Amino acid sequence: MPQIFPRKANVLPHLTLAGSLAGGVFAIFFIWYYFSPEYTDVGYAPEQPVEYSHRLHAGELGISCQYCHTNVKDAAHSNVPATQTCMNCHSQIRTESLKLLPVRESWATGKSIEWVKVHQLPDYARFSHAVHTNNGVGCESCHGRIDQMEVVFQAEPLSMGWCLECHRAPEQYLRPNSEITTMGYEYPDDFVQQNLQRIDAESIEPPTNCSACHY
Ligand code: HEC
Ligand code: HEC
Ligand code: HEC
Ligand code: HEC
Ligand code: HEC
Repeated sequence: MPQIFPRKANVLPHLTLAGSLAGGVFAIFFIWYYFSPEYTDVGYAPEQPVEYSHRLHAGELGISCQYCHTNVKDAAHSNVPATQTCMNCHSQIRTESLKLLPVRESWATGKSIEWVKVHQLPDYARFSHAVHTNNGVGCESCHGRIDQMEVVFQAEPLSMGWCLECHRAPEQYLRPNSEITTMGYEYPDDFVQQNLQRIDAESIEPPTNCSACHY
C-alpha cells in the first residue's frame, strides 16, 4: 500500500509529546531552581572564604556600612569591598593572623577574594539599591541587624509578596535619609504621620505594576 502521508508525519505527535515533556521538565527545573534556598530561604548563610565578622567591624568597631559598600546610594548594585579596603587597616592590624591569610594572599597576588553572594534575586526581577536608599528605606528593613551578625544571613524573604507589602504601605517603613545605615533605628511615635507628609511632599510612589519589577 502506498503511503498517503509522508513518513515524517508520524514524527509529529512524538515531537509534540516530547515538547510538552520538556516543558514539564522545564517547569520542574524552574521551580527547583528558583525555590532553592539561595533564592528563597530566610536564614541562608553560605560559608565565606574569610571569617569576616560584621558584628565585629560594623557593630563593635562601628565602621560605617558605606566605608565598604561604597556604591549603595549611587548604583543599582551594592558592592562588596576590594581587598585594598581591608588592607587599609590590616596592613597594620593583626598582620600575623591566620584568619587574615587569604586577605594577605589576595593582596600579594592581586586575585580578589571570592566572597559568596548571600542575597540573590532571580534574573527576571529588577531591583535597585539607589532608589531605595535615597527614598528612606534603611538597610535594616531588608537585611536585618547586620551589625549583630557574625556571618551574614538572609533575614527577610525577598519574595514578591514581601516587596509589595512595603510598596503598598511605605508609610509603615520609611525613615529619614540620614538614618539609612542606622542599625536598631527607633521610630518616633508619630512616624507614620511624618512619613505620610513626606510621601506627599516628595511624591514617593513605589510601583505595584508588573513591568516596574519584571523585564
Ligand atoms: C569593613 C568592611 C565592611 C563594613 C563596614 C560592612 N560590610 Fe557588609 N560586607 C563586607 C564584606 C567583605 C562582605 C562579603 C562577605 C560576607 O558576606 O560576609 C559583606 C557582605 C554584606 C552583605 C551581604 C551581601 C550579599 O552577598 O548578599 C550585606 C547585606 C551587607 N554586607 C550589609 C552591610 C551593612 C548593612 C553594613 C553596615 C551596618 C555593612 N555591611 C558594613 C564588608 C563590610
Ligand atoms: C577600619 C579598620 C578595619 C578595616 C577596614 C577592616 N578591619 Fe578587620 N579588624 C579590624 C580590627 C581593629 C580587628 C580586631 C583586632 C583585634 O581583635 O585585636 C579586626 C579583626 C579582623 C579579623 C579577625 C582577626 C583575628 O585574628 O581574630 C578578620 C578575619 C578581619 N578583621 C577581616 C577583615 C576583612 C576581610 C576586611 C575587609 C573586608 C577587614 N577586616 C577590614 C579593623 C579593620
Ligand atoms: C529594599 C530592600 C533593600 C535595601 C533597603 C537594601 N538592600 Fe541590599 N540587597 C537587597 C536585595 C534584594 C539584594 C539582592 C540583589 C540582587 O540579587 O540583585 C541586595 C544585595 C546587597 C548586597 C550584595 C551585592 C548586590 O548588590 O547584589 C550588598 C553588599 C547589600 N545589599 C548591601 C546593602 C546596604 C549596605 C544597604 C543599606 C545602605 C542595603 N543593602 C539596602 C535589598 C535591599
Ligand atoms: C521597606 C520598603 C520597601 C521594600 C521592602 C521594597 N521596596 Fe521597592 N521601593 C520602595 C520605595 C520607597 C521606592 C521609591 C518610590 C519612588 O521613587 O517614588 C521603591 C521603588 C522601587 C522600584 C522603582 C525603581 C525606579 O527606578 O523607579 C522598584 C523596581 C522596586 N522598588 C523594586 C523592589 C523590589 C524588587 C523589592 C523586593 C526585593 C522591593 N522593591 C522592596 C520601598 C520598598
Ligand atoms: C515590587 C516589585 C514587583 C512587582 C510590582 C511585581 N513583582 Fe513579580 N516578583 C518580584 C520578585 C522580587 C520576584 C521573585 C520572588 C522570589 O525570588 O521568590 C517575583 C516573582 C514573580 C513570579 C515568579 C513566581 C513567584 O511567585 O515567585 C511571577 C510569575 C511574577 N513575579 C509575576 C508578577 C506579575 C504578573 C506582576 C503584576 C501583577 C508582578 N509580578 C509584580 C517582584 C515584583
